[in-house]
Amino acid sequence: MVQMNDIEKSFPGVKALDKCQFTLNKGEVHALVGENGAGKSTLMKVLTGVHQEDAGTIFFKGKKVKINSPRKAQELGISIIYQELNLMPHLTVAENVYIGREEKKNKLFIDKKKLNQKTKDFLKMLNINLDPQAKVKDLTVAKQQMVEIIKALSYQAEVLIMDEPTASLTDSEIEDLFRIVKKLRSEGVGVIYISHRLEELKEISDRITVMRNGNYIDTVATKDVEIDSIINMMVGREVYETSNNKSSKNENEVILEVKNLTRKGVFKNINFNLKKGEILGMSGLVGAGRTEVARAIFGADNIDAGEIYVHGKKVNISSPSQSVELGIGYLSEDRKRYGLALGRDVATNIVLANLKEYMNKFGFIKEDKIKQVAQNQVKQLAIKTPNLKQDVKNLSGGNQQKVVIGKWLDKDSEILIFDEPTRGIDVGAKNEIYKLLNSLVEEGKSVIMISSELPEILRMSHRILVMCEGEVTGELGIEEASKEKIMKFATMRN
Ligand SMILES: Nc1ncnc2c1ncn2[C@@H]1O[C@H](COP(=O)(O)OP(=O)(O)OP(=O)(O)O)[C@@H](O)[C@H]1O
Ligand SMILES: [Mg+2]
Repeated sequence: MVQMNDIEKSFPGVKALDKCQFTLNKGEVHALVGENGAGKSTLMKVLTGVHQEDAGTIFFKGKKVKINSPRKAQELGISIIYQELNLMPHLTVAENVYIGREEKKNKLFIDKKKLNQKTKDFLKMLNINLDPQAKVKDLTVAKQQMVEIIKALSYQAEVLIMDEPTASLTDSEIEDLFRIVKKLRSEGVGVIYISHRLEELKEISDRITVMRNGNYIDTVATKDVEIDSIINMMVGREVYETSNNKSSKNENEVILEVKNLTRKGVFKNINFNLKKGEILGMSGLVGAGRTEVARAIFGADNIDAGEIYVHGKKVNISSPSQSVELGIGYLSEDRKRYGLALGRDVATNIVLANLKEYMNKFGFIKEDKIKQVAQNQVKQLAIKTPNLKQDVKNLSGGNQQKVVIGKWLDKDSEILIFDEPTRGIDVGAKNEIYKLLNSLVEEGKSVIMISSELPEILRMSHRILVMCEGEVTGELGIEEASKEKIMKFATMRN
């Protein structure tokens, strides 16, 4: 179906692709892997006409083609689901799926009924529980991603590119997705599958292509390789796991306490505390209400009842700036919407939560200080950027995530809420972030970590809180916790 030969692409200061190769057969799932910034998304943007290659050739079904616009790619039958979601938040699910292709009644009015029905058929076929008339802005990231998938499928694509489709899905949602992908494959669709969740490659892919630092490394048949050797090809070095021998922090001082926190229709009677030096894991299925609780503590959403105590003192948090003053930092799961100023450079984003510190008494910005601090974070987190002046929107997805982390580290918050901190982060960098979380709590900070990945929750937490449908359904010390126990609480519907 697709053959890409010796593709090259440079951006100012970055050689993103250097003689890259890629082929896709009819009816195969071909995984594309590599560290953050390796060039995966860029290669796919060349294939979908978002970027033009500087050199190299592309063949589609044996014919040499010039894919000079996204429209051209679409006409060829190449569809992509981007890593960063691209939906119109104020439109409904159905309107997003059929945007620009709305069927008109009497050529004048959009036939909403028909759009809704067609979308409903797709949702039903894929077994997704979603209202076609729901507004996209009210959906979780996971649900929004499903809308993207349906949108791509609705184009009758012969080549479907998925850039980290499972990053924010729960295990059961991933199973659903895999069923869909396998079905598409059996119907002859070629699927290009980018993922950092390497353990899923064995199940879903037929071949794997590895990229490193803008270079093509190799393409192998999945059945012939071990994932460990894929990791070695990706990073070109050994990856060391952080240990997870932890002891409970039960004796420690309580830093944050939440009593009967309620937001009508979203979550109710949430009670828990967070101890000094502790990582409190928050587990549950997507939609359990974890992000909503975090947002309420951070002052981004109102509460209808309940109390929050910091260091034993009752506090009223009605805006994020108040909670930042109280020493609370929130790393959002949706970095595009809440975490970053995408049009600003790396340095500005890193100091963003802490701008006051960087002004002298006359209100002038201390540029040198900013540079120095930003440089430190870039080094500590191994953020891949040509320089500090690069706009964040030009960084690879994983590196954007690291910038958000850098921003909260700079603020030196005492309580950090990390919402899906390793989403879209490669294996090597994941370990770096785990190490970082461990060193933060060793310094005496306290962390709430929301994660949908059970291995991550089990490895990192001292204590685990499980939510289901807006309520806390269980609490487990790390000594007694297991995947099975967590899943039991996570599905304990009232
Ligand atoms: N529009 C752009 N302008 C400048 N540099 C860019 C642009 N797009 C990508 N880059 C750079 O090209 C390199 C490859 O980025 P790319 O997004 O392809 O990585 P990736 O493999 O998809 O990584 P991730 O796993 O983090 O998503 C990175 O160094 C990135 O900063
Ligand atoms: Mg990418």
